[in-house]
Amino acid sequence: MKPMFNILVVDDDLKNIQVGINFLKQNTNYHLVFATSGEQALERVKETSFDLILLDIMMPVLDGFEVCKILKADEQTKQIPVIFLTAKHEEDSVMEGFKVGGADYITKPFNAAELNARVKTHLELHYFYQQEIAKLKEVLMYSQKAETIKFIAGGVAHDCKNFLTVVPYNLEMLEKISGEKQDSSDNSLELIHDTKVAISRVSGLIDHFFSLNKDDKGDSELVDMNEVAADISKVYKDWLRHNIDFSIELLSQPALTMANKLHVEQVLLNLLINAQHAVMEKMDNGQTDGTIRLLIERVEQVGNEELRQNMPYLQISVIDNGIGIREKSLEQIFDAFFTTKEDRGGSGLGLAVSKHILKTHEGAIFVDSIEGKGTTFTIYLPFAELS
Ligand SMILES: Nc1ncnc2c1ncn2[C@@H]1O[C@H](COP(=O)(O)OP(=O)(O)OP(=O)(O)O)[C@@H](O)[C@H]1O
Ligand SMILES: [Mg+2]
Repeated sequence: MKPMFNILVVDDDLKNIQVGINFLKQNTNYHLVFATSGEQALERVKETSFDLILLDIMMPVLDGFEVCKILKADEQTKQIPVIFLTAKHEEDSVMEGFKVGGADYITKPFNAAELNARVKTHLELHYFYQQEIAKLKEVLMYSQKAETIKFIAGGVAHDCKNFLTVVPYNLEMLEKISGEKQDSSDNSLELIHDTKVAISRVSGLIDHFFSLNKDDKGDSELVDMNEVAADISKVYKDWLRHNIDFSIELLSQPALTMANKLHVEQVLLNLLINAQHAVMEKMDNGQTDGTIRLLIERVEQVGNEELRQNMPYLQISVIDNGIGIREKSLEQIFDAFFTTKEDRGGSGLGLAVSKHILKTHEGAIFVDSIEGKGTTFTIYLPFAELS
């Protein structure tokens, strides 16, 4: 659908207005409004948001230049392009028109083709400009929102870290008391151990959050992704509903990469939790066979422009048969704050953070999904050869 444009025609001579309006009204997407004085023009501008003003210069009391100056001094109206209407003998004043902010001029008596062409050009330019401004505003709003969330999240993470410091000490004490008990038939030692593991993971994630503000991967070491995947799935398995079939296929050789271990762990965890949500949602709708596969392979050549050529990569896939992702959402899932889980407390940061982590590791993440059938996330990390 074509956009509608509001055009104001200002002239103290009604005849000129009539001619102008007659020439322009063939365009069904122009909504034409007229004013017969400078004062009236300023009133009209308050009532309607115009996309263009055709403004006569010679008018009693408030002439065209004065009106233009007032419009250009006002935040609300300064963007509206003004085309001056000049009589033949006023052509000298054209420069004055540009000085006060006019975009163009048209000489009277009007030539239909010229009037239409100039009006069209300025409307298009204005429209394009407005679109660009709207986009820029959106980007600005987004980055302000991101900054605010970063600030709040930073505070929360900081406080969590402080509160968490008491937990390991308390757990140590509990461990001691339980160990000293004669009756070791209960499983309290095991529970304490699991809690310790979970707490150290939370604490690690908070450290990770702080390091996310940096643009590099931080401390890196030679990491075997086979081990990372096995560790994660040990913890992760406990969270899975019993009837989800989870399988893991490791690489037959050490799956080595130079990485920040905590960061790559977080990526896998994000992907597995997302897969779990997607599968569980489908199971809530009646599906009985929920499956998630974690697969680690080595590829000699990925053939993607985001990654280097002639270099081996670790390819890690998380494959689920959950609800899948709508084609329209596929473009947005890596955007920060994009979530379809608002009602379940989703922050929409998991994939954005994962993508950032992979970028800092000179890797990449891709998605393949069919709505209703399932999703595969594939990540690539440079393979580290032991020389
Ligand atoms: N395996 C998947 N299957 C279906 N949809 C998915 C899958 N993974 C991600 N998505 C979609 O992508 C969106 C963004 O995922 P992301 O992990 O960034 O945020 P989230 O899971 O909504 O919240 P959180 O920040 O808590 O992870 C999800 O809300 C979901 O719509
Ligand atoms: Mg997530």
